[in-house]
Amino acid sequence: MVKRILIVDDEERYCDVVRQILSSRGYETETAAAPADALRMLHERPFEMVVSDIRMKGKDGIQMMREALEEFPELDFIIMTGYASEYSYTDIVEAGAGDFIIKPFSARELEAKIGRIERERRMQGSLIETNRYLLREISLNMAIAELAKAMVLPVSMDELSALVVKHARQLTDSGIAYVDYISLEKKCLISPDLRGNQWDDPDPSIREAVLERLCRLWNRVSEDRKPVMTNLRRDENELRFRFLITPVTAEDVLLGILALGTSRRDYDEKDLVFAGRLASLYGIAIQRRSADERLNHTLRQLLGAFEETVDALSSAFEIRDPYTAGHQKRVADLASRIATEMGCPGEVVDAVRLAGLVHDIGKIAIPAEILTKITLLKDVEMSLIRQHPTAGYDILKGVKFPWPVAQAVLQHHERMDGTGYPRGLSGKDILLEARILAVADVAEAMSSGRPYRDAVGTDGAIEELYRNRNTLYDPDVTDACLKILVEQGFKP
Ligand SMILES: [Fe+2]
Repeated sequence: MVKRILIVDDEERYCDVVRQILSSRGYETETAAAPADALRMLHERPFEMVVSDIRMKGKDGIQMMREALEEFPELDFIIMTGYASEYSYTDIVEAGAGDFIIKPFSARELEAKIGRIERERRMQGSLIETNRYLLREISLNMAIAELAKAMVLPVSMDELSALVVKHARQLTDSGIAYVDYISLEKKCLISPDLRGNQWDDPDPSIREAVLERLCRLWNRVSEDRKPVMTNLRRDENELRFRFLITPVTAEDVLLGILALGTSRRDYDEKDLVFAGRLASLYGIAIQRRSADERLNHTLRQLLGAFEETVDALSSAFEIRDPYTAGHQKRVADLASRIATEMGCPGEVVDAVRLAGLVHDIGKIAIPAEILTKITLLKDVEMSLIRQHPTAGYDILKGVKFPWPVAQAVLQHHERMDGTGYPRGLSGKDILLEARILAVADVAEAMSSGRPYRDAVGTDGAIEELYRNRNTLYDPDVTDACLKILVEQGFKP
């Protein structure tokens, strides 16, 4: 709205007439007799409009308008002239005037021109406001889309927190932003690494003062679980304290905090809504993270109990067969080292370790005297022994392992060229876990010996692996195993 109007004319008579017209219509007015005075007054006090003559002593009204608009682009100008033929409408409007009026003019004419400029101003204002609103909405939606995308990807909480901080700062024009989240495992707030939160205030004491207030409000929000928005005016140190702190909650449980401060403008209700929406999304991420933490914790416990059970089973079984006592444990150890060396995912490492611990469990179906026989085995005895992968599979197939343990046990005597047993599978038809187990089994067995043959030691095992790297054993698995045995000097 136009409230204050500056009238510029070197003819006192005109100044008075215009002043009377405008004052009677409720405008606050001041007058200037020369362009230089007008420019000075514009610097000293706020005006929304200038009604100015063109021809004046010193500077011309159009030149004054150009200079004024450079510094105050929001100002509206109405140019008055008694010399209509010397200045065209286009020249005046192109120079930046909202309108022009030819002397002499009636009060109604001037009022109508001001009214039109005011209407334009209102329309422009609401357009700018709508544009600003739409831009902020678009920015918020883009931020939410980016966060939602990050939440379904395997990004860390630190990365997600940094994203929330980045968007919260941008959306609210804040200078500083922090987030904290509560770890269920640690039961405390965790400040993630918030890179990009540089706050370069030259004066450390100002920084101290702002952070001190931020901490105080932070604690209040943690207790009340209600957002706080402050736009405090300057204090005795000429500091302006603007803060917006939002709790991150779910069902009234505090999950974290989002804090913003030192905005370049006052925080408004829209900022509160934006921060609230980001906090909600962040809350979902924290909840998901907590659920993952709980699940992983339970899984680790289950896996631990499961491994203990498998270990006990393995030890109990080996009492029957002292020659292979410890064989399964050593195979499990070597197999998981090979899988790690190959860069296999954690599931494969876990699968080969567990499968290794029970890979010969099928031998329970073989009479103990055959297993412990120290003379060479007869064909019939050998064929009985060859049934142990299938027997092991039959024992394990009913157990709901999260990995293909039973299948790996079934295939651990298969060979890459199809000469293995029980099914004569070849190449990649054999499970990766079984190919790893096969190499670990051979390397361990040759190093440790069997009732029916002496140990050939690690050197013999290395030779066997080199010799059959491309025929019996998977070359990648063999290379990883050789690296462990030769370069790392590991003794199975
Ligand atoms: Fe075996």
